Amino acid sequence: MTVCEYKPGLEGIPAAQSSISFVDGQQGILEYRGIRIEELAEKSTFLETAYLLIWGALPTQEELAEFETEIRYHRRIKYRIRDMMKCFPETGHPMDALQASAAALGLFYSRRALDNPAYIRKAVVRLLAKIPTMVAAFQLMRKGNDPVQPRDDLGYAANFLYMLNEREPDPFAAKVFDACLTLHAEQTMNASTFSARVTASTLTDPYAVVASAVGTLAGPLHGGANEEVIEMLEEIGSVENVRPYLEELFRTKAKIMGFGHRVYKVKDPRATILQGLAEQLFAKYGDDQHYDIAVELEKAIEEKLGHRGIYPNVDFYSGLVYRKLGIPTDLFTPIFAIARVAGWLAHWKEQLGENRIFRPTQIYTGDHQVDYIPITERG
Ligand code: ACO
Repeated sequence: MTVCEYKPGLEGIPAAQSSISFVDGQQGILEYRGIRIEELAEKSTFLETAYLLIWGALPTQEELAEFETEIRYHRRIKYRIRDMMKCFPETGHPMDALQASAAALGLFYSRRALDNPAYIRKAVVRLLAKIPTMVAAFQLMRKGNDPVQPRDDLGYAANFLYMLNEREPDPFAAKVFDACLTLHAEQTMNASTFSARVTASTLTDPYAVVASAVGTLAGPLHGGANEEVIEMLEEIGSVENVRPYLEELFRTKAKIMGFGHRVYKVKDPRATILQGLAEQLFAKYGDDQHYDIAVELEKAIEEKLGHRGIYPNVDFYSGLVYRKLGIPTDLFTPIFAIARVAGWLAHWKEQLGENRIFRPTQIYTGDHQVDYIPITERG
């Protein structure tokens, strides 16, 4: 076997052949099944996009209606799952709650039939339908309230905001939130998708696939960055403090959250769209004092790090949008997960189509022929 050069973080190493999405990091292009993200964010809906990602083509009117109906029907969660979630500590992070709850679905729907299209369809529907309900339920229960039942007359995004805030959202807010879900639905071979594919390759159940991906997304170098961006903007506090704050980050060699990307070496196209959505929300519902800080920070970083290809990524402006929609900071990453379930499921399905278990190699750097020293003789 040829021994390849070791690449930390597997940079540049293809881990799969995929027709789900495409990214050009030099030109700032992202396509789902060949369709530009800008077009989907403007013209599609999250569920239509999820269908496109998972089944490979845009649905007809009938197909979309059927898919939406199935999802509405499966939004409720079993009372045993709800009761299990009630026992989670209210101080626990919602991403940990989501990972545990997603894995728990496997206890109830465990009959695996990975070669049966009806099983695949049901698993896709259940995961897309129930993950938002679980995120909203944990949010209410950690405040000591009962979860709100999903409403069948509301669309996917509106229903989630309704379950979260216990009131029907303004249609504009629901539309913006739906576009945010579309933007976060898929992004080639990122860490959580790789995690999903590795888990899928063992032929385990789809709930374990999604649970492992949720755990991977939680980290601050991946989906968790959106939460840290808001904390950073709050810490900066004023436009005047942007440059002194940045100098201090450079001095300590700390990473600036919401900036940089393994693939994008220009501004992430999703960050551009999210910035536009944030501006629309501010125009309708009032300014956010941290937006000016964010714009100044982007300008300062472009001056200092632009030549190294470090620009805002998807996590930079998403938090400002979510905050305007009344969403608490520690739900930003679970919301990312709600959207990314679509991408993970598309990769799960694709992986099953041409499966070979992931089993990479390593370069051993340890010793050989080491003698065992009895415990009494160890110094
Ligand atoms: N702030 C400051 N410097 C940075 C940043 C940043 N945000 N991102 C990259 N750099 C610098 C690194 O310090 C490194 O410099 P060096 O060559 O002098 O050591 C160089 O750019 C390359 O950075 P790496 O971390 O090696 O790049 P990698 O491709 O491994 O990591 C990552 C990409 C993890 C996204 C990185 O840019 C980062 O940590 N960003 C901040 C966290 C963040 O926003 N994550 C969300 C990413 S989007 C998503 O996952 C949904």
